[in-house]
Amino acid sequence: LKSKYLNLIADAGDESSLEEIRLTAVGKKGEVALKMRELGKMTPEERQVAGPALNALKDEINAALAAKKAALGDAALDERLRAEWLDVTLPARGVRQGTIHPISQVTEEVTAILAEMGFSVAEGPQIDTDWYNFDALNIPGHHPARAEMDTFYMHRAEGDERPPHVLRTHTSPVQIRHMEKYGAPCRIIAPGRVYRADYDQTHTPMFHQVEGLAIDKDISMANLKWVLEEFFSAFFEVDGIKTRFRASHFPFTEPSAEVDIQCSWEDGQLKIGQGDGWLEVLGSGMVHPKVLTAAGVDPAEWQGFAFGMGIDRIAMLKYGIPDLRAFFDSDLRWLRHYGFAS
Ligand code: PHE
Repeated sequence: LKSKYLNLIADAGDESSLEEIRLTAVGKKGEVALKMRELGKMTPEERQVAGPALNALKDEINAALAAKKAALGDAALDERLRAEWLDVTLPARGVRQGTIHPISQVTEEVTAILAEMGFSVAEGPQIDTDWYNFDALNIPGHHPARAEMDTFYMHRAEGDERPPHVLRTHTSPVQIRHMEKYGAPCRIIAPGRVYRADYDQTHTPMFHQVEGLAIDKDISMANLKWVLEEFFSAFFEVDGIKTRFRASHFPFTEPSAEVDIQCSWEDGQLKIGQGDGWLEVLGSGMVHPKVLTAAGVDPAEWQGFAFGMGIDRIAMLKYGIPDLRAFFDSDLRWLRHYGFAS
């Protein structure tokens, strides 16, 4: 009996088969217990020999079980240590930090430069009435400029009497809202999102403009030219950038000018701020008297300039980005390529 169980114990491969052996050998109904029960039928002399022998057998089996159990435990631990090995000296995987979107970065640059020249930031809603977006800016209902702007109109349910709303097509409505609220004089910029139904390499249905507005007693286009040349020199980091004003037409300015900045092409590379080429960057002019009146400012007393510039466009020029749409793809490889993400 002893050698049978000691052999079984030695061969046991895991803890559950060891437990089975324990039950059949020294469990309550195990083989040793059965033998113990037979002691009752023995003569006292026989019992004196058999009793201690059985107890010794039981102890020996228990001891063998315990030793084997410990050995199996060690083996299991060794196996886990082997399987779950890890090298804590490996260098850690890098954690990449989020970064400010390039358009937001450029908006901040633009704001910082113009703030230094005394312009403060004004804001208006992206969904505006067509009065603010058009009428107050001297673009009445039939005006072709409305069609040209590819306006997104907000749908109104039948019977809804509220005034029509649009996604603002430019930041110019902020001029009206600001003058209405704070009057003249004023010197503000209004950066923000604008919307037009247009999509190709240089147009996305949502893009960004920054509006400029300076109203005072004797502001002229000379002030506008100075502000813009200072601004572009700081923004493109080239001293003394020249601008060219081309006569143009906007319903909300008179006179109106489209403004180009100096540039050149060298070996297929665009260089801003030097050479004798010109690149259109913004629309501007002297605020139309009708616009001042619509905003509650007396044109007999006040006058000033306004300009509107595409933020995405000057960002593309500054960073040499050929396709505007990439700004809004959230492609990390693209962002990293242009140094906008780590
Ligand atoms: N709002 C014009 C546009 O979006 C730009 C502009 C602003 C022109 C202010 C003149 C004065 O095209």
